[in-house]
Amino acid sequence: MAIKSKLPQVEESIFSVMTKMAIKYGALNISQGYPDYDTDDKLKELVMKSMREGHNQYAPMAGVFSLRKAIADKIKFLYNKDVNPDTEITITVGATQAIYNAISAMVSSGDEVIVVEPAYDSYVPTIQLNGGIPVSYELNKDDYSYDWDELRALITDKTRLIIINTPHNPTGKVLDAEDIVELRRIANDFDVYFIFDEVYEHLIFDGKEHLSALKYPDLYARSFVTYSFGKAYHNTGWKMGYCIAPPVLTQELRKIHQFNVFSVNNPTQHALAEYMQDKNSFLHLNSFYQQKRDFFNEIIKKTRFIPIKCEGTYFQLVSYAGISDEDDMSFAKRLIKEYGVASIPVSPFYLNRTDNKVIRFCFAKTEELMSEAEERLVRV
Ligand SMILES: Cc1ncc(COP(=O)(O)O)c(C=O)c1O
Repeated sequence: MAIKSKLPQVEESIFSVMTKMAIKYGALNISQGYPDYDTDDKLKELVMKSMREGHNQYAPMAGVFSLRKAIADKIKFLYNKDVNPDTEITITVGATQAIYNAISAMVSSGDEVIVVEPAYDSYVPTIQLNGGIPVSYELNKDDYSYDWDELRALITDKTRLIIINTPHNPTGKVLDAEDIVELRRIANDFDVYFIFDEVYEHLIFDGKEHLSALKYPDLYARSFVTYSFGKAYHNTGWKMGYCIAPPVLTQELRKIHQFNVFSVNNPTQHALAEYMQDKNSFLHLNSFYQQKRDFFNEIIKKTRFIPIKCEGTYFQLVSYAGISDEDDMSFAKRLIKEYGVASIPVSPFYLNRTDNKVIRFCFAKTEELMSEAEERLVRV
């Protein structure tokens, strides 16, 4: 049967390709973006409690009110911004569904969306499913900084959205004050909207501040800002997230949300609402992950790989240009087969498969696993 595919160019994701290979060759998997340690027992108990209390039927479409209120309180505390839980916060199935909803709400056939590359893998197919045209903007290849003139030059009458991710997967790049000035200029000069993917808001290092779009009224007025509980609370498998957007944008987002999921896991929402009351549940994350980044960087220093500065997220890019001139896909596969370490090549994060001889590791792993990887990486 010949089926007309809506996404003919989509192949098996690079994450499943590398994970399958890692299993086949018994390699250490320090590639995929999830922790190899568990979520807090206290949070698991709260989910059980919530189920026992009978929160087992559909939650309200926008999300359980106590959770939306807890999020509003957190945003006031972190970013000194008042958001209305009724009209500006929607609980979603991870950040992925928040992003899907936002793109679907805004993008129609022929609309252009500027995607900053290397980019998280859900953006481009979601744009294409909605008939939109992804327009690639590639970060500077040496330090992954922005050239804002270059990005502005891509904006046309058809540009509907610009997707910004900070802290940025896979590069670890974090927007600074000058970048925000440029973004605010764009918001004032053009009739475009933004998705700010801020799932790594708490994973930011060396005293750097996360400059959320929520802090700047002119940016926020045109933005969907997306978050993930999975990244914050070490439970990516629960697929819980949320989207914050001004009321007019939230109204459109919920029109999509209502029909692609209607509402999100009810007992988990009640549990998260209670868990978030303790601010330590998110305040310690910077130092927790900075320690892991530093531990992993000490390992990389002993190898021939060159680390690229990681300011946030739990990913570390390394250049292997001094080791081999193979393309990144072949190199990453050889690393699994010959050295027993799984990584992610970065070229699949680009529409044009740009190959800068860089691979990605994830340091959301136990020190034991990273140390085991050290023994193998120093031999490369
Ligand atoms: C940049 C970025 N955005 C969104 C997501 C998706 O988050 P979630 O697992 O909550 O859907 C991820 C997950 O890896 C990510 O790295």
